[in-house]
Amino acid sequence: MLKNKGKELLFVQWLLLSFVLLSCINHAHAGVTSAFVRHEWPSVDIPLDNEAFAVPKGYNAPQQVHITQGDYDGKAIIISWVTTDKPGSNQVRYGMSDGKYDFTAEGTVQNYTFYNYKSGYIHQCLIGGLEYDTKYYYEIGDVNSARKFWFQTPPKIDPDVPYKFGIIGDLGQTFNSLSTIQHYMETGAQTVLFVGDLSYADRYEYHDVGVRWDSWGRFIEQSAAYQPWIWSAGNHEIEYMPHMGEIIPFRNYLHRYPTPYLSTKSSSPLWYAVRRASAHIIVLSSYSPFVKYTPQWRWLAKELKRVDRDKTPWLIVLMHVPMYNSNDAHFMEGESMRVVFESWFCHYKVDIVFAGHVHAYERSYRVSNIHYNISSGSPFPAPDKSAPIYITVGDGGNQEGLAQRFKDPQPDYSAFREASYGHSTLEIKNRTHAIYHWNRNDDGKRVPTDSFVLHNQYWGQSRRRRKLKKNHLHSVVKNLPRSERL
Ligand SMILES: *[C@@H]1O[C@H](CO)[C@@H](O)[C@H](O)[C@H]1NC(C)=O
Ligand SMILES: *[C@@H]1O[C@H](CO)[C@@H](O)[C@H](O)[C@H]1NC(C)=O
Ligand SMILES: *[C@@H]1O[C@H](CO)[C@@H](O)[C@H](O)[C@H]1NC(C)=O
Ligand SMILES: [Fe+2]
Repeated sequence: MLKNKGKELLFVQWLLLSFVLLSCINHAHAGVTSAFVRHEWPSVDIPLDNEAFAVPKGYNAPQQVHITQGDYDGKAIIISWVTTDKPGSNQVRYGMSDGKYDFTAEGTVQNYTFYNYKSGYIHQCLIGGLEYDTKYYYEIGDVNSARKFWFQTPPKIDPDVPYKFGIIGDLGQTFNSLSTIQHYMETGAQTVLFVGDLSYADRYEYHDVGVRWDSWGRFIEQSAAYQPWIWSAGNHEIEYMPHMGEIIPFRNYLHRYPTPYLSTKSSSPLWYAVRRASAHIIVLSSYSPFVKYTPQWRWLAKELKRVDRDKTPWLIVLMHVPMYNSNDAHFMEGESMRVVFESWFCHYKVDIVFAGHVHAYERSYRVSNIHYNISSGSPFPAPDKSAPIYITVGDGGNQEGLAQRFKDPQPDYSAFREASYGHSTLEIKNRTHAIYHWNRNDDGKRVPTDSFVLHNQYWGQSRRRRKLKKNHLHSVVKNLPRSERL
């Protein structure tokens, strides 16, 4: 009796395994390398006197206004702005109706130097205790040059609440960057997930570095003063410039772009997490230590345990350097982080990993390369239903231009790639479905180019299948090793 049961089990195991293998093969269809070649468009920075960088009118008027989430769950916001003539007021006046401010909050002010550049007065004000899903109006600055803005708080954390994110990377401050921002603003997305390389001010020297951080702050204000940009840092934020006596990494960036890292018990503003609507967003730093036992590694191990897919079904990771990239530019630079974190991403069923760095667009299939261990296992990426989709959107439009040379032939892990400027949107519908778009800036027009319906990795198809299997083959599945369960 027992013996027969064993045979039966083996047979069912074999059946299940064949099914796994077959469905893997189905997924391994060839990727697309888009033949689209955009027209010439100079990748030069917009001149400083252009209206894209206009200084607001009025003595000591606030400029470079931007906001970001201020806590773990979206009930707080950090408002930042710069005044140039004198420190002025640190106060934010805010409320739920335009021009009538029932509340005030007091921020901080700081200034710093970078080589011989002296920054303006950088104000930062954390406002907590906000209502969810509410439009707030706010006013900053001294009375005679005050400026008014507004923002909408996210809905309360809820597994089925819809929310639309935009994803922008490697933006810079060229005419292409302007096109990206303007197209992004047409999408109606509510929050930007920024995947690093902000201003490209480090392409300048001496006094001009600080000047170009300031112009970038004025440039993004059209969006960033009205909705949060969730920041992650790239290599252009490092600004290690010993010839100018500047040797502390990330100085300009850290002075200007605060993050709510303390609310997730992170020890650095460079890696942290926020929960917003139905998404848990984890921000990593490609240019900070991440190997075993480092603070970032320890923090991520804990943060992944805190993820509760019953509350926030969507698990999104942001980093600068892509782990799966088939462009000549920055090829294999993400390997070191892949070796350290990829198995966690599969284990925790991350939905999407967004990265930048490569100035092109690329999307992967669900693949992983976690079985190779130097002495054994296949050294090639293989289809893996537990794996995230890796998306590179380093195509915001900075002055370095596009990364036009892709590896040929296109590797199996690469689903779609094109060297054009653009941005992405992720429109979460409910706990199971989200709609993803990559929008190419086709010389002035916004052209949706790569899109798909994303099924949630925890609540989506595989979970339904798991449930089905559980009902029909409960005893069998129980006996399979975890990695072979569907
Ligand atoms: C900050 O501003 C004050 C007042 O204008 C000035 O005295 C000080 O030198 C500045 N500090 C730095 C680090 O630039
Ligand atoms: C490498 O992987 C193989 C196959 O999974 C395993 O048998 C072996 O013990 C692993 N080696 C090390 C050093 O972990
Ligand atoms: C989730 O959204 C998708 C796409 O809009 C829809 O087809 C599906 O029925 C929704 N599911 C639930 C449970 O509402
Ligand atoms: Fe980069």
